[in-house]
Amino acid sequence: MNKDSKFSVSAEEIEKQNEYIQLARTLVEAKFQHTPKAFVHTYGCQGNVADSERLKGVLQQIGYTFTEDVNEADLVLYNTCAIREHAEDRVFGNVGALKQLKAKNRDMRILLCGCMVQQAHIAEKFHKSYPFVDVIFGTNVIHKLPEFLYKSLSGGKRICEIPAGDGVVPEDMPLYRDSEFKAWLPIMYGCNNFCTYCIVPYVRGRERSRDPQVIIQEAKDLVARGYKEITLLGQNVNSYGKNPDYGYNFSKLLRELNDIEGDFIIRFMTSHPKDCTHELLDTMAQCDKVAKHLHLPFQCGSDRVLKAMNRGYTSGKYLELLEYAYSVMPDLSVTSDVIVGFPGETYEEFCETKELVKKAGFTSMFTFIFSSREGTKAAQMDDPISEEEKGKWFRELLAVQEAVAAERTSASLGKTYRVLCESINEKNGLMEGRTEGNIIIEFPADKSVIGSFRNVTVTECLTWILRGELAE
Ligand code: SAH
Ligand code: SF4
Ligand code: F3S
Repeated sequence: MNKDSKFSVSAEEIEKQNEYIQLARTLVEAKFQHTPKAFVHTYGCQGNVADSERLKGVLQQIGYTFTEDVNEADLVLYNTCAIREHAEDRVFGNVGALKQLKAKNRDMRILLCGCMVQQAHIAEKFHKSYPFVDVIFGTNVIHKLPEFLYKSLSGGKRICEIPAGDGVVPEDMPLYRDSEFKAWLPIMYGCNNFCTYCIVPYVRGRERSRDPQVIIQEAKDLVARGYKEITLLGQNVNSYGKNPDYGYNFSKLLRELNDIEGDFIIRFMTSHPKDCTHELLDTMAQCDKVAKHLHLPFQCGSDRVLKAMNRGYTSGKYLELLEYAYSVMPDLSVTSDVIVGFPGETYEEFCETKELVKKAGFTSMFTFIFSSREGTKAAQMDDPISEEEKGKWFRELLAVQEAVAAERTSASLGKTYRVLCESINEKNGLMEGRTEGNIIIEFPADKSVIGSFRNVTVTECLTWILRGELAE
């Protein structure tokens, strides 16, 4: 599938990896007296989560079951993220802690993959200073896990394979889905935008779309198996279908997915304001299965900073888009991402971000302090504001958004929403679900409702989440 694209993995390569799955399976059966357990931990975005579901699919076929307890694992796989320094620090700490475990279990294998290790300086550091790590592999070769694992288990040398390249579309890998009713469906990989703060284009390669027919078939299979929520994934889903050109843009894809018969909802993330068109917003409004939720990161309210970030829009254009979106979808819930303390940002410019937040009416917002990423343009820029000062700005912004969110959620009191019931909150025993607008709502209900849609009436509005009761 997707065979015409320069991004596709060749049929011979897929065949070769399938043979390695069989070889590894035989080896694992002979090596372990028990069913071996794998601990797979994923950092970062849903794109990484979707990759992990493919890596787990491979491990399952080789004969592993999964554990949440790293202490009993025969294999540890960390799928890492490079988006901020903090994410990387956590990985270094957690991998370091594995040294003791490995000393107790010689057959244990430790594997690292994902965006963080795609950076040459990081891969080198792990290779040199963490000799107990067996396999390090980059984002362009996730389909080669069977080969890497087989070679490592059969006593081969340590492996570190981080090829540069534009990226692949990993079709035809086995798949182990974490949920039986919510599915991640990648529609594209990589990014071409080169926002000046961001590492993603360097570690994830060029933007490449999956074949629409493959996506539609995958969605049909999911619906036939009873999945209730399908989330389409990409760093910038609004530019879906540009490379390769399949004659589909994102709106057309959404419409065809909406036409699949069945009781399910469609979500997508992330949207980029520069490519978010009125056509897309109209499509959302007209497609009954498309959730009325838009995650539209704005990053900053200052036009000068937006330009320095290479974002390709102004705050005015962003607010106009929202105005149009609310006009065609009055119940729309908008969420966003924002970066505080971009190099050279002044307090006055930061205040423009606060102003935008007051106007935009986000139901929730992810706020990040700028983190310098080696190799990006922003890492070269002067950054005179101290971390302490940025921390102050961060708290100011949270207070502004808290007031906005509280006002928005309080408008939900007494309303009834269709909610996908997801899991019991261990802390208070309440069922947790999400409204169409992706707001968490808690209510008393037993486990039997998990994985189904129920109507829930809001009885209490907390700042970020709602409480309610079953309406029927
Ligand atoms: N492709 C998405 C975002 C992916 S990264 C988009 O363009 O909107 C998720 C969020 O992490 C970004 O929206 C941004 O707010 C934040 N982020 C990315 N790089 C960062 C950095 N160097 N420092 C701080 N936050 C960053
Ligand atoms: Fe990063 Fe910008 Fe691409 Fe998003 S659009 S992944 S922020 S470069
Ligand atoms: Fe992190 Fe890579 Fe996603 S850097 S946010 S895991 S694309």
